[in-house]
Amino acid sequence: MATGLAVIGSGSAAPKASLNNDGLSKIVDTSDEWISTRTGIRSRYLASPQESLSQLSAIAAQNALSMAQVGATDIDLILLATSTPDDLFGSACQIQAEIGAKHAVAFDLTAACSGFVFGMITAAQFIRTGVYRNVLLIGADVLSRWVDWTDRRSCVLFGDGAGAVVLQANEIDHLLGFALHSDGCLHDCLNVQYQGESRPLTGGINVSQGTYQPISMNGKEVYRFAVNRVPEIVEKALFQAELTTDDIDWLLLHQANQRILDAVAKRLKVPAEKVISNIANYGNTSAATIPLALDATVRQGYIQPGDTIAASGFGAGLSWGAAIFQWQR
Ligand code: UT7
Repeated sequence: MATGLAVIGSGSAAPKASLNNDGLSKIVDTSDEWISTRTGIRSRYLASPQESLSQLSAIAAQNALSMAQVGATDIDLILLATSTPDDLFGSACQIQAEIGAKHAVAFDLTAACSGFVFGMITAAQFIRTGVYRNVLLIGADVLSRWVDWTDRRSCVLFGDGAGAVVLQANEIDHLLGFALHSDGCLHDCLNVQYQGESRPLTGGINVSQGTYQPISMNGKEVYRFAVNRVPEIVEKALFQAELTTDDIDWLLLHQANQRILDAVAKRLKVPAEKVISNIANYGNTSAATIPLALDATVRQGYIQPGDTIAASGFGAGLSWGAAIFQWQR
């Protein structure tokens, strides 16, 4: 029984429309100069009302399956890391139906911007125990649905997209190390909070009826958290893998802010040419940033089979995690 795993394919998808910083300046009091120097973001893709999270995810999934040369019916498990499902009950099953993965069990996993890394480690447990052989892991978000488009402090940061990878059981384990963390005491720093009003039913019984509020974020706190905790957790995962930063070919961080990428890389002493960044064109797509950037770098021919990647996701929860793996396609 193969109890290791390999990452053998990637795919991604973005909505059709993109909005650059000049366009955003027509909606809120901001400028291309402010956004690009403070965040590195120049443009972001935004899903139209006709483009669903499930559709974007299905396209990303199909691209990943075709790179991996794995048929949809051979998938045993679909994990959808998202905080913005089309359906609060979960969107993974819709994707399962859309791509025809009729033998797969499918469910959503919510860990905000850490979702992809948390999903990879969850998938690994099923593979390493021999329960499942082929896992399709999708990281996708349509945060534009929950952005306050009048709040210039947050609306300039986010974009929409989907990325996917195929993980397969393998004799050699190419997931070399990982570490995951959560700190709910810092929940107030970043959230999309449910808010409801009391609705009396009968006999003194009241229920709450409402919806989710737009993204609320303490940018400075999240920034501080990221530049402190992310280097720490990457080091921890590398230690588990018995590696050092010198051994990694690529640093693949959640794309939240170019300044965060630079600061983390500096602390880890990873040279800029090893730091993957596509934030300029996509902004922060939450659970999608890591697989989107991975897929682009693979398809551009930079990431080679056997390359060691240190990936780290961080965000709401607060939550953060790192995974050290080798690309195997
Ligand atoms: O997945 C995780 C998601 N969240 C994050 O990653 C957020 C992490 N934090 C950050 O990336 C940064 O803190 C921000 C990009 C959000 C903000 O950058 P900053 O350098 O921390 O700016 P600031 O909040 O200190 O604001 C500086 C100034 C303020 O004006 P005053 O008070 O100095 O007059 C803001 O009102 O910039 C102003 N400002 C803006 N100006 C133009 C804030 N947003 C904008 C804007 N355009 N979009």
